[in-house]
Amino acid sequence: MAKARVLVVDDEKSMRDLLSITLEKEGYDVLTAAGGEAAIEALRRDATDAVITDLRMPKVDGLQVLRAAKEISPDVAVIVITAVASTETAVEAMKLGAYDYITKPFKLDEVSLIVRNALERKRLRDENLYLRKQLETQHRFENIIGKSGRILEVFDTIRKISDSPSTAMITGESGTGKELVARAIHFNSLRRDKPFVSVNCGAIPEGLMESELFGHVRGAFTGAVSNKIGLFSAGEGGTLFLDEITEIPPLLQVKLLRAIQTREIRRVGDTKDMKTDVRLIAASNRNLEDAVKDGILREDLYYRLNVIPIQLPPLRERREDIPLLVAHFLQKFGKDLGKEARGVAPEAMIVLERYHWPGNIRELENVLERAIVLGAGDVLGIESLPETLRRERPVKGMEAVDLPEDGLDLEATLDTIERGYLQRALDRTGGVQTKAAELLKMTFRQFRYKLQKHSLVRKGSGGDV
Ligand SMILES: Nc1ncnc2c1ncn2[C@@H]1O[C@H](COP(=O)(O)OP(=O)(O)OP(=O)(O)O)[C@@H](O)[C@H]1O
Ligand SMILES: [Mg+2]
Repeated sequence: MAKARVLVVDDEKSMRDLLSITLEKEGYDVLTAAGGEAAIEALRRDATDAVITDLRMPKVDGLQVLRAAKEISPDVAVIVITAVASTETAVEAMKLGAYDYITKPFKLDEVSLIVRNALERKRLRDENLYLRKQLETQHRFENIIGKSGRILEVFDTIRKISDSPSTAMITGESGTGKELVARAIHFNSLRRDKPFVSVNCGAIPEGLMESELFGHVRGAFTGAVSNKIGLFSAGEGGTLFLDEITEIPPLLQVKLLRAIQTREIRRVGDTKDMKTDVRLIAASNRNLEDAVKDGILREDLYYRLNVIPIQLPPLRERREDIPLLVAHFLQKFGKDLGKEARGVAPEAMIVLERYHWPGNIRELENVLERAIVLGAGDVLGIESLPETLRRERPVKGMEAVDLPEDGLDLEATLDTIERGYLQRALDRTGGVQTKAAELLKMTFRQFRYKLQKHSLVRKGSGGDV
């Protein structure tokens, strides 16, 4: 990273020297000016991150330097130095946008600290601006944020299928954005002016599901006092999003399959079929192949729905999206809550990027909302993050990384290490897989997958090792 550049302005040579030596020691690139005019010239010529200027100087004074600096580059941090006697001017300087003021006599430590803070704040602001630019331009699709390869693939798929009526099947852990993607598909399709109807199949009592989906005619069953249109009809011409598809009982799955194939539905108690034109998007946070194997999802329906499979990766597998998502949510909550957060302190960002996010983006969203509500000041610090996140320790074992003279087979080595940890975790938990998965900060599914990969369990066996 380039060194930050600080301009020191003072008509007294001894003061200039003192300050520039101090700041150079701190690792900055220091320029000096012996007066206001020279300072303004320097500001025009060189990109500067911070200015530290004496207030009282002959001819062009510190306030004028401040004004010029803010005009030439509004983001530059200006710190003014003032004698105790003239604190009024210092207040005026603050009003004009100075970052802070220092009263003489001062300690050099104090100067270093103020400059460091000023530059840090500027850096965060620049970074935040940069992220916002990225958000505005490329790295979003509707409201979906991301720049990782896996998310860009999802954007691509959404674009490609926008004009087709095919069914899509979205899978991914909880909070990965399945509903968001379903909406993006709809609002990018030719159906965008027609309804988007979202149904959580897990929330409808089994006995009512058929009538909810397809509607019923009056007298179809006790309580059916009038005709009722179903969700299919409510979504006519648009998109029907069936969330938690595996919650539909198998008998009804047959009817759903038939509706997709014939493009006709029959209301409960009706004798005739009705034409229907809806695009179906189904979603689930389960592994659907397993659901088929377990007899929860009919195989024929699975294949019918899975025409366009979209798999949303968990957040921990696309950590490069975290800073963008953070900037997005800061902006969103900043607006909603009327609290503008400029950025995130570097230690806090490290924690956010490192955490394993079992609740994925929803969890990140909640953490940031809470941090903004609780946080003081305009930079989100580590103290406003929940204890659970801060507690998660960094990946251990870097000390063991030692590359032999003649190199090594990385894949094979990693494989051995992985197998070793799996075995250790199983030993420690007496073979209880859910506990072992927890120890290794994995979902049970990931853990099972890895066990099978390392032949630590027979395929298909549900029992513990
Ligand atoms: N890529 C993303 N960019 C911005 N916000 C996102 C993204 N993905 C998810 N979100 C937000 O995270 C939250 C959870 O997303 P959503 O409800 O779509 O997840 P889901 O996969 O349907 O979860 P569940 O399985 O629990 O129903 C929502 O508030 C959504 O707006
Ligand atoms: Mg959902």
